[in-house]
Amino acid sequence: MENLTLNEVYRRGEATLEGAGVPDAEVDALYLTENIFGADRTALILHGDRPADSGLCRRFFDCIDERASGRPLQYIMGTWNFMGYDFYVGEGVLIPRDDTETTVLRALKLLNGREAPRVIDLCSGSGAIAISLKKMMPQAQVTALELSEDALGYLKRNAERNGAEITIVKGDVSTDAEKFADGSFDMIVSNPPYIISNQIDTLQRELSYEPRMALDGGKDGLDFYRIITERWAAKIKPNGWLVYETGEDEHEATADIMKASGFCDISYDLDLQMYKRTTYGRFGK
Ligand SMILES: C[S@@+](CC[C@H](N)C(=O)[O-])C[C@H]1O[C@@H](n2cnc3c(N)ncnc32)[C@H](O)[C@@H]1O
Repeated sequence: MENLTLNEVYRRGEATLEGAGVPDAEVDALYLTENIFGADRTALILHGDRPADSGLCRRFFDCIDERASGRPLQYIMGTWNFMGYDFYVGEGVLIPRDDTETTVLRALKLLNGREAPRVIDLCSGSGAIAISLKKMMPQAQVTALELSEDALGYLKRNAERNGAEITIVKGDVSTDAEKFADGSFDMIVSNPPYIISNQIDTLQRELSYEPRMALDGGKDGLDFYRIITERWAAKIKPNGWLVYETGEDEHEATADIMKASGFCDISYDLDLQMYKRTTYGRFGK
């Protein structure tokens, strides 16, 4: 490979991604430049005229080709930041999304003032919610429940990576509520699968790399809100909270499901795109 400077490498990478129609080509090329050469935007401005290591160049352009073919940037890098914490990610586990930070922030607000609150994160995936909560509220006793073996592998490694002492349980939200005593938790938090089954294949191509069981919310997208609300409500202490991430346009239906199971003070938070992204309510006031 010819000798290239860091700037040339970065620009070629960006041009390839742009040509392949990757949205945010510039941002993705920058992430990969930083991930592989350790050079962020400032380093490119200051030292971009320095020669780029040829071995690293090969790796960089391989990654650019993978990204151009549609593989998500986060899986290529193998790591992603959520709430200021680094998480291992890869095929088999959902990539933590910025929108989910809305749910973590609401959970923290609702738990504020409770001594050693007990929290369970259902459908925990990479552990993004459970681990961030434990890091930001160390006095909380956090359990993370997940069904997928692949996701559980990431969840365990992410808890270790972040030094988060949480309890990790393999379990199925459909059948395993009975393993917990009634009134066990101050809060249930969950970002369950919530995409309408027949819409999954029509969404952006990157989603096809993520596990279907992390996305598929059934015929109307609401299966998991019904299952969790109906089967897990009694596990919440009186005056405890149920906090969901909800899909676009799912707040009202989720609120109705919660009302029917004895929740009150139901409300929502908007995400940065102004969708009602977090739906929460108090159990049995
Ligand atoms: C939308 S992802 C959320 C992952 C993570 N909580 C986050 O916010 O990034 C939903 C997760 O639910 C898990 N899941 C699907 N069906 C489940 C079930 N029946 N019981 C427990 N977990 C399940 C999937 O494996 C996936 O990790």
